[in-house]
Amino acid sequence: MQSMPDVSPTKWHLAHTTWFFETFVLKKWLTAYRAEIPQYAYLFNSYYNAAGDMHRRDLRGLISRPTVDETHRYRSSVDSDIDDLISRADEKLFAEIEPIVILGIHHEQQHQELLITDIKHVFAQNPLYPVFHERQPSQDYGSASKIDTVSATTRPMNFIDFEETTAEIGHDSSGFSYDNESPRHRALVPAFSLARRPVTNGEYVKFIDADGYARSEFWLSLGWMTVNEQRWQAPLYWIKRDGAWWNFTLSGLRPVDESEPVTHISYFEADAFANWSGARLPTEFEWERAAKIDIDGNFVETETFHPQAGRSSGQDRHLAQMFGDVWEWTRSAYSPYPGYRAAPGALGEYNGKFMCNQYVLRGGSCATSCSHIRRTYRNFFPPEKRWQFTGIRLARDPS
Ligand SMILES: [Fe+2]
Repeated sequence: MQSMPDVSPTKWHLAHTTWFFETFVLKKWLTAYRAEIPQYAYLFNSYYNAAGDMHRRDLRGLISRPTVDETHRYRSSVDSDIDDLISRADEKLFAEIEPIVILGIHHEQQHQELLITDIKHVFAQNPLYPVFHERQPSQDYGSASKIDTVSATTRPMNFIDFEETTAEIGHDSSGFSYDNESPRHRALVPAFSLARRPVTNGEYVKFIDADGYARSEFWLSLGWMTVNEQRWQAPLYWIKRDGAWWNFTLSGLRPVDESEPVTHISYFEADAFANWSGARLPTEFEWERAAKIDIDGNFVETETFHPQAGRSSGQDRHLAQMFGDVWEWTRSAYSPYPGYRAAPGALGEYNGKFMCNQYVLRGGSCATSCSHIRRTYRNFFPPEKRWQFTGIRLARDPS
C-alpha cells in the first residue's frame, strides 16, 4: 500500500534495496551479468538520474506485479550473485567492491527505518487502527507510570551550559560515513545551553492548550501558511476523543502518555514550540559538539517502535536521549560542508542533490538501527514533513 507520495510500499522497499546492489555492484563488476527482468531497473530506481529513467514515486502503490513472492525471489537471486562475486574476488577487486557493498548495507538500513514509518502511516489510515507490534509488558508501567508522568511533566526542563569553542565538525574517517558528513572542518560554536532531554507530550499539550497553533507570532511565515492550509492542531497521528488526546502508535491507538517525547511534528511545529517556550532549536554544530557521549538509547533493536519516557531523575546533569527515541530537528539548513563535492556519477546523487530546502535532524529514532547512527550523522527532511519519528530538543543563548 502507498498512503501518500512520500510513503513507499513494503514490497517496493524490498525490491529497491536489491536494485541498489544489482545496479551498482553486479552490473558494474559482473561482466556477464544479465538482469532476469530488465524492467525492474525502471520500477525500482528511486531517484538516480544517472542510472536511467524511473517510475513515478507517487505511483509506487500501483505496482501490483512483481508479487511479494517474486520480489523475494529477486532478492535471493541478487544476494546469491553478490555472494558469488565477493567469494571469487581477489584482493584488488574486493577493495573496489567493498565500499559499494558497505554503502548498500547502510542504504538498506535507511530503508528498514522507512519500512517502519511507512507501515505506520499506512496503518494510521485504517479506522481499525491495526497493531503492528504488541506492546511489551515492560512498556506498561502501571500505577508507577502515573507518578512518573506527574514528575516528568511538572519537572522543569534543565539546561546544560556549553562554553564557546572551535569545534571539529564532521566525520573523522574512522569507519563508514556518508559523504555529507565530510569534509571534517572547524566551526566556531559560541556559548549556548542545551536542554537535558527532549520535549515531552505533556509540555507539547501545554503549547496546544495555549492556542499555540492559532497564534501567528510563534510561526515562520511558511509554517503559518502550512498550519492553516493543513489545519494542523496537534502532531500527526493525534486525535481527540471526549476531550482527551490519543495517538496512533505501532501498537495501536493509545492515550497520549505525557511523559514520552513528543514526536511526528514538522520543523515548523518544533520551531513554533521553541518560540512559545522562550527558547530556540539548536544548530547542528551545537548538537554535534554536545553529543560527545556514548551512543546508547531506544533504537529499533528494542522493538518498542515508539519513543520512551526518560527514566533518569530531574537532578541529572547529563544529556539524556540524545540518541534514539526521536530525530531532533536542528535549525541548520541542510547544506554542504566547506569543501564538499559530490562524487561523479550516480552515487554522487545519494546526498548532494538534496542540499536545498531541507533541515538537518540528528541522533536517530526508535526506528533507526543502533549500528546505523553516528554522532556526525546528518539526516534531512523538508520542514513540513511529519511522518518520521521527529521531535524537539531546545537550546538557549546565554542569558
Ligand atoms: Fe534508496
